[in-house]
Amino acid sequence: MTALLVALLASPSAQAAKDATFWMPPQASTHAAEVDFVFYYIYWLCVFFFIVMMGATFGMAWKYRAKSDDQRTDPISHSTRLEIAWAGFPSILLVVMFVLGFKGFINLSVPPADSFDVRVTGTKWSWSYEYPGSNVSSSDLVVPANTPVRLTMNSRDVLHSFFVPDFRIKKDVLPNRYTVIWFEATAVGEHIVYCTEYCGNGHSRMLSTVKVMEPSAFKVWFNEQNVNEDDIPLVQLGESTFQSKGCAACHSVDGSALVGPTLKGKYGTEEKLEDGSTVTIDDNYIRESIMAPAAKVVAGFQPTMPPYQGQLSDRQVDGLIEYFKTLKD
Ligand code: CUA
Repeated sequence: MTALLVALLASPSAQAAKDATFWMPPQASTHAAEVDFVFYYIYWLCVFFFIVMMGATFGMAWKYRAKSDDQRTDPISHSTRLEIAWAGFPSILLVVMFVLGFKGFINLSVPPADSFDVRVTGTKWSWSYEYPGSNVSSSDLVVPANTPVRLTMNSRDVLHSFFVPDFRIKKDVLPNRYTVIWFEATAVGEHIVYCTEYCGNGHSRMLSTVKVMEPSAFKVWFNEQNVNEDDIPLVQLGESTFQSKGCAACHSVDGSALVGPTLKGKYGTEEKLEDGSTVTIDDNYIRESIMAPAAKVVAGFQPTMPPYQGQLSDRQVDGLIEYFKTLKD
């Protein structure tokens, strides 16, 4: 008995992700149980009152139906007691709903002071993550388990919304304004990130992954990533920039056309542009297309790519060009 109590009272770090239910995905953060409790409180109230009201409606319709053509309805007066009961009792249930919801909202809105900081950027149509005070940036949100993580989020273009169902967190991501949300993952594993604000034709593919690691494994990963850009060979720097800046969301490296043209086997070739002219895909064209993508748009594609002027270092651009050269047919 004592052992059971101890197990029940053990810190959340001992928990694994709880399995999904019929309505809800697995619970993988400290917010999840609280959010689900409010959800099921409202859900079961709805089920209860649906049965009571439908039962009463059909039961009374049957009981008090007209039994003959000349039957008259008895004069009906009101019942003060009954009216107070059916106004007062549901009011209490609603106040409970408000208090639970408000507590949860405040909890989600105020990150603990010692949170681990990550900056999130939404772009049409990818997520990227940067770790302040380091050289680490990633297209997956890699975080340590059992550690509060504060996300400061911003969009480079239109409205997006950051949603991790397993953590029960969701918040709009806006241009020209920062929004903040936080979570503490309770178990090692991977969780999907959705964009839940329609943001154009790549919206449904605007996905990313949260990778939760043991704090010790996270430290190893972090130190591996935290290297000076100048120490990385150009091709490798280009490939990691291609991934971390979200280029891969619109450009394939295997020959298939996505929102933008593929990059495979393109270096050194001629490409037809929207206005009918042609251009040779060389270093200068690639650089221009990264910095000012609308300048020379390849025929058959829309000028939807955001400009990366000021977003990349010269060495990253060199790296991207060298990486594209390696993508041969
Ligand atoms: Cu970004 Cu939808």
